[in-house]
Amino acid sequence: MAKQSKEKAEEKEVKSKKKKARKNAKRPSEFFEKDSLKVLRETLDSLENGFTKLPVASGSIKKRRDFNRVLQEVAERMKDNYPYFHPLYAGQMLKPPHPIARAAYMLSMWINPNNHALDGGRASSKMEKEAVAEIARMFGWKTHLGHLTSGGTMANLEALWVAGQVSPGKEIIASGQAHYTHSRISGVLGLKFQPVQCDRDGRMDLDALKELLDTGEVGTVVATIGTTAVGAVDPLPQLIELREQYGFRLHADAAYGGYYTLADNLAKETMETYDRLGEVDSIVVDPHKHGLQPYGCGCVLFHDPMVARLYKHDSPYTYFTSEELHLGEISLECSRAGASAVGLWATQKFLPPVRGGEFAKSLEKCREAALKFYGKLRVDARFVTPFPPELDIVIWAPVADTTTKASAISRAIFDEAAKRNLHLALAELPVTFFDIDSPGMRRDSETITCLRSVLMKPEHLEWMDRIWRILDEATNLVMAM
Ligand SMILES: Cc1ncc(COP(=O)(O)O)c(C=O)c1O
Repeated sequence: MAKQSKEKAEEKEVKSKKKKARKNAKRPSEFFEKDSLKVLRETLDSLENGFTKLPVASGSIKKRRDFNRVLQEVAERMKDNYPYFHPLYAGQMLKPPHPIARAAYMLSMWINPNNHALDGGRASSKMEKEAVAEIARMFGWKTHLGHLTSGGTMANLEALWVAGQVSPGKEIIASGQAHYTHSRISGVLGLKFQPVQCDRDGRMDLDALKELLDTGEVGTVVATIGTTAVGAVDPLPQLIELREQYGFRLHADAAYGGYYTLADNLAKETMETYDRLGEVDSIVVDPHKHGLQPYGCGCVLFHDPMVARLYKHDSPYTYFTSEELHLGEISLECSRAGASAVGLWATQKFLPPVRGGEFAKSLEKCREAALKFYGKLRVDARFVTPFPPELDIVIWAPVADTTTKASAISRAIFDEAAKRNLHLALAELPVTFFDIDSPGMRRDSETITCLRSVLMKPEHLEWMDRIWRILDEATNLVMAM
């Protein structure tokens, strides 16, 4: 009898273990990387050891139950998000930070350095200078002036602020597909701004640009190296030639596309632009886009370090206490997150931003995913595609009688795909980007709402067949309605 109940108990235990294992298998650890938390715990102790000469000052949490409850509430609230970290999120320009960036950022939070001045963030300011110099080296710059910013908008603001001072009263020019921030920033800075139309490839139209240059009013041309909507790359070799003729300042907004300078699998024309990127006067690149960083990390670089003179200021409350360069002396923003510099520095140590390296290969995979996706769309009679992707953004529109109907179908496919956990994006683009005549579509609008996918996670390549299957199913369903 005793033997029987022992066996039963053992059987029960095995069953319960199996149940637990099954439950664990479905736990979110299948989605979120958590190993770094263990390393973070260890390195946090090591960081703390650097301060043991101080008298003890307890750092424990007060009101622990409230703390737990509030954090649980945060977890609940954060569930109301698209799954940006997942390969089936293939919509907007969103990329998860690398675990080392996240861990290094968090580690530095126990210090919370401020990279305004060395007094507020000695170690992290040094790390920022090193990390930024490495980004400058990506573009072949041995000397430069630059720093991190809170994002691409602030970085471009600094570049245009400098441009405005170098050529006062002159216009800023950017393509019609440039980020809207340029016209807005110009307004903020009191500078005149004019958009130039794009050609059928989504790039700045050079004839239209020449007409504006002939007015003699242009001080700065902004070349977009990877437009936000379609990933088009403005033609630098021709722009550099025009600069020789007209003498304008050339700024490259490479907030999204800058890191592609490391990729080996770009089209010849695109590669020719990246090969000349080092010849511009200033560059903006966002580590919080393709550089695997948490948000709050943009970067502005000037080729001529002498632009530092434009930043010169004197105020009674700055606390620049050493001869060494305080980053606040060459930045429009005062307080800045030292943690951003720490995250970036750690990421670049772990994955050096060099050609042929692991980081470069991950970008190449994103482009490969885009080419694969484009290849499938191009031969599918249900869709029209414009130019091939230059980087990793793919756009397409459904074939319909009219462009207005196609727009409505795009929106319906977007919704149906989302119901199947495939998250795409929508973009309003000029009809002229598409060859609508071949499938016999009638143009009854100037723009078309098309589907857009930013394939900026290397995992998108492996997931492409699955992404395609879902899109196929969603499209069939919508088109049968
Ligand atoms: C080309 C380009 N420039 C500037 C920006 C603005 O950058 P941020 O959103 O970091 O301010 C973006 C954002 O997508 C962009 O794609």
